[in-house]
Amino acid sequence: MSMNLGPLFDPFELHHLQLRNRVAMAPMTRNFSPNGVPGPDVVDYYRRRAEAGVGLIITEGTTVNHAAANGYPNVPAFHGEQALAGWKQVVDAVHEAGGAIFPQLWHVGAVRKEGTEPDPAVPGYSPSGLFAPGKPNGQAMSREDIRDVVKAFGDAAQDAKALGFDGVEIHGAHGYLLDQFLWEGTNQRDDEYGGSLENRLRFVVEIVEEVRHRVGPDYPIMLRFSQWKQQDYDAKLVSSPEELERFLTPLVEAGVDIFHASTRRFWEPEFEGSNLNLAGWTQKLSGKPTMSVGSVGLTEDFISGTFASKQESVEQSGIDELVERMNDGEFDLIAVGRALLQDPEWLVKVKEGRLNEVTAFARKSLTTLY
Ligand SMILES: Cc1cc2nc3c(=O)[nH]c(=O)nc-3n(C[C@H](O)[C@H](O)[C@H](O)COP(=O)(O)O)c2cc1C
Repeated sequence: MSMNLGPLFDPFELHHLQLRNRVAMAPMTRNFSPNGVPGPDVVDYYRRRAEAGVGLIITEGTTVNHAAANGYPNVPAFHGEQALAGWKQVVDAVHEAGGAIFPQLWHVGAVRKEGTEPDPAVPGYSPSGLFAPGKPNGQAMSREDIRDVVKAFGDAAQDAKALGFDGVEIHGAHGYLLDQFLWEGTNQRDDEYGGSLENRLRFVVEIVEEVRHRVGPDYPIMLRFSQWKQQDYDAKLVSSPEELERFLTPLVEAGVDIFHASTRRFWEPEFEGSNLNLAGWTQKLSGKPTMSVGSVGLTEDFISGTFASKQESVEQSGIDELVERMNDGEFDLIAVGRALLQDPEWLVKVKEGRLNEVTAFARKSLTTLY
């Protein structure tokens, strides 16, 4: 049975970027890159999704060149000859299959624990040495550390462009380093990087400016941000549309082209009195295209579905509501995570109305890279 898919398969254009449809693969850490190098299995993993029609692939978080950027085993690096050569293979495979691809540039900040690769002696680095309010970890960054990390993001973006990536996504979400600066709960600095919303934004603004400077005016820069943090699902960076506008304006001025507003369920209204979700409000207030995300094709949400629930599978849902919101122009692009992690052919099956053939998300799929 075929469904009304509205604008889901309409092309999308921004500067020189041309996407064949509005569906992106959400960035998902997979821990299959020993020594930080994405190998042939990673190439094939992304190729499969592009071959089955995904318009834009956003890679798993990949670390910028700073000693404390990584927080987990076997995460791909975005620096060093071997890792970049691996990424080049990924880019070429996705392009051959007609897809576009952005790397997600990442620094985990105070999520890093001592003992983590590549150098186990290096502690976490963060604005105030806090993993969460009242939970110290690692060290507070000096101004020099801040400059080093800003430069590392610039270097990575420049490398991304040179390798043929179609744009970059800067990971500013989920309680990692950039979000630790944004969030009052982890930013207790009393210098120009802490205090007011404008000050807490300064580090991210400097990163966006540096990236823009390195890649030139027409290269797409996407910024992922979220209200929720892994440290606190109920945390908020902003609590009203007015505050959201104050948050977005400096980022637009710094050079963000697309905002990727990360929510756990795309159908949830962000502020009272309107049905708009965070991506909807962000598009309205910034005037920029936005990408939404959260539980497309799933009934369980991210956290319970992936990590807590004993339930092995979940049903498809949400496509009708997604199409309705996209018909209304609420947001421009939609990212799909677990449904695509589980079933590389999820999108083509949706397109052809073969939902009964979709393999439902099961937690055990996290242990393989198919
Ligand atoms: C295994 C796994 C790894 C993830 N890794 C990342 C990551 O590296 N960067 C990121 O921004 N989000 C990451 N996420 C969050 C996803 O990008 C996405 O926002 C989330 O899964 C919700 O989308 P979904 O409901 O379609 O899965 C991860 C999610 C999963 C399930």
